[in-house]
Amino acid sequence: MVAKAIVIDCDPGADDAIALFLALAFPEQLNVLGITTVAGNVPLSLTQKNARCLCELAGRADLPIYAGCSRPLLRPLITAEDVHGKTGLDGISLPEPQMPLQSQHAVDFLIETFTRSTGNITLATLGPLTNLAVAIVKQPAICQHIHEIVMMGGALTQGNITPSAEFNLYVDPQAAQIVLTAGIPLTMVSLDVTHQAIATPERLRAIRAINSPISAATVGLLDHYGVYDMQRYGFSGPPLHDPCVIAYLLQPDFFTSYQAYVAVETTSELTMGRTVVDRWHVTNQPPNANVVESIEADGFYQLLTHAIAKLSEP
Ligand code: RIB
Ligand code: CA
Repeated sequence: MVAKAIVIDCDPGADDAIALFLALAFPEQLNVLGITTVAGNVPLSLTQKNARCLCELAGRADLPIYAGCSRPLLRPLITAEDVHGKTGLDGISLPEPQMPLQSQHAVDFLIETFTRSTGNITLATLGPLTNLAVAIVKQPAICQHIHEIVMMGGALTQGNITPSAEFNLYVDPQAAQIVLTAGIPLTMVSLDVTHQAIATPERLRAIRAINSPISAATVGLLDHYGVYDMQRYGFSGPPLHDPCVIAYLLQPDFFTSYQAYVAVETTSELTMGRTVVDRWHVTNQPPNANVVESIEADGFYQLLTHAIAKLSEP
C-alpha cells in the first residue's frame, strides 16, 4: 500500500494536537508533506509554535512547518482561549521548540506543493479556511491539483461558537465560501459527527494506561480541554473534532456519508458561518460536498489508542 500524501492545515489547539499525533503515528499510511498553521483557536504566533512543539514531542522535528494567515479575510479574528487556554495547549507544558519555522508563507507552500503535484495530495483542514482561500484567490490553478479536502467544520444542527455555527467556519465564513465554491472534491466532518466521538473517562483510561510522555500529553490536554464542553453540553468528556478528519483518512469505513450541496451563511449576523446542507436536493444545486453523517466511535478510539501506543514506542 502506498502512503497517502497529505498536508495538514491547523490551529493547535488541543484537538488539533491529538489529530497531529494520529496523523504522525502511521507513516506507512499517511505521508505528511508539511503542516501549515493559521490563526484560530489562538493567534498565529501560538499556533505555529504549538505545531512545532507537538511535532518535536512526536519525534518529527524533521517536518516542515509554515505560518500562514494571522487573521480572517474580512472579519476580525475570534479566538477560543476559553476552550484551549491562553497557550492553546493548556493542561500540558512543552519546552520551547528547537525545530525551525519555515520562512516560506503557508499560502505559498500550499500553492507550490499542490500546483507542482500530480493531483495526488489530500489537504486536511482543521482550522479556519483562510490559508486555503487565499491560496485559491492567489493561484486559482491550485483547485485542479488538490486531490481532496477533508475539512473539520460546519454544523447541520447545533453550533458551538454560536447557536447555529461551528467555530472554524464562523471565524472566517468568507474563506469557507471561497472553498465551498471552488469545485474541489471536499469531505465535510461537521460537529454533528464529532459530537459522536466523546473522549469518555473509560476511553481516556486506555490512553492514560500507555504511560508515556505522548499519552500523558494527550490526557493532560484532554483533561483541560474537556472542561468547557462538559460544562456546556453535559458530555462525559471532550468531543475530538479534528482527529475525526485524520481517522477518516486512515479508516474511511468507520464513517457514513452522503453527497449534498452545502452553502455557508456570510451575511446574517444571527446565522453567520452556518452551513446549510441540501440533503434532499431541493435546490437542484449540484452536490459540492461529501457530508459525513456518522462515525464508529469505539473503533475510532481503538485507532487513537493504538496510535498513541505506536508513538510511545522507543
Ligand atoms: O469547532 C471545532 C473546531 O474549532 C476544531 O477544529 C477546534 O480545534 C477549533 O479549531
Ligand atoms: Ca482546530
